[in-house]
Amino acid sequence: MKFNKISIYFSLLISTMMFFSPANADFNDGWVAFTNEDFKTASREWKPLAEKGDAKSQTNLGILYFNGKGVLKDYKKAIFWLKKAAEQGVDGLILVCAGAGGHAGTLSPFALVREVREFFDGTIILSGSISSGSAVASSLALGADLAYLGTRFIATEEANADQGYKDMLIDSVADDIVYSSLFTGVHGNYLKGSVVNAGLDPNDLPEADKSSMNFGSGGNTDAKAWKDIWGSGQGIGSIKDSPSVQTLVDQLTSEFKEAVEDLNQKSTY
Ligand SMILES: Cc1cc2nc3c(=O)[nH]c(=O)nc-3n(C[C@H](O)[C@H](O)[C@H](O)COP(=O)(O)O)c2cc1C
Repeated sequence: MKFNKISIYFSLLISTMMFFSPANADFNDGWVAFTNEDFKTASREWKPLAEKGDAKSQTNLGILYFNGKGVLKDYKKAIFWLKKAAEQGVDGLILVCAGAGGHAGTLSPFALVREVREFFDGTIILSGSISSGSAVASSLALGADLAYLGTRFIATEEANADQGYKDMLIDSVADDIVYSSLFTGVHGNYLKGSVVNAGLDPNDLPEADKSSMNFGSGGNTDAKAWKDIWGSGQGIGSIKDSPSVQTLVDQLTSEFKEAVEDLNQKSTY
């Protein structure tokens, strides 16, 4: 399966990875403004290009609308521009839904997959809180083609993460996740325990300064996102151990098969 450069991430999530970087001079003006966090200028540069049909500008403008950066937050306009870009030959879309680790969206996968399916028949990859074989099977039942797991693989032998981070993933459940914009300026999901360890109250975090957006690490606190404040999706209740990746994949495979069998049986009701 081939994915071209246009791989749009629908969600409130934004990261530098998701935006298209420069390819031509005009587009580059918007990109320079964007990297300087001058989102107004970025949107002004990209809008005429988007209107002329430039897929990268359409994508980036759509994401700005999703996040209300440089423009008023407008979900309909975001979908409008992302659809325009998708119509130009996107092979696949990654839908980062509510409960995903890192900079997550807030939309339910039940809502988003169906909505996207209405206008897109390419490959849909679903992500957010998927940590078990049954969740992978559920993603396919929902209409996605593939599932994308992030957090689950942090608790593996091979992952180059702090042992404390892995232990906290094993010991925590969905309610131990806080959704906050404090650490990078963009909302993301984090382990409350790591927030407590940084001397903060996860149940009383201020909103980030709207003008500050730093995907790498926050300028809002001394504690640094990713290093001290540990990102995690909500699908951690099923994480009970930190096995090798091979063992985990085998386990996911057998859970997946079991879930499909279960669903087959239930479908005869
Ligand atoms: C600690 C952490 C850091 C992440 N950083 C990025 C990132 O820099 N760019 C990105 O596009 N997604 C990032 N993600 C999101 C993942 O790509 C993926 O969408 C997400 O982990 C899926 O949800 P799950 O963690 O609930 O499985 C990150 C996720 C985690 C847990």
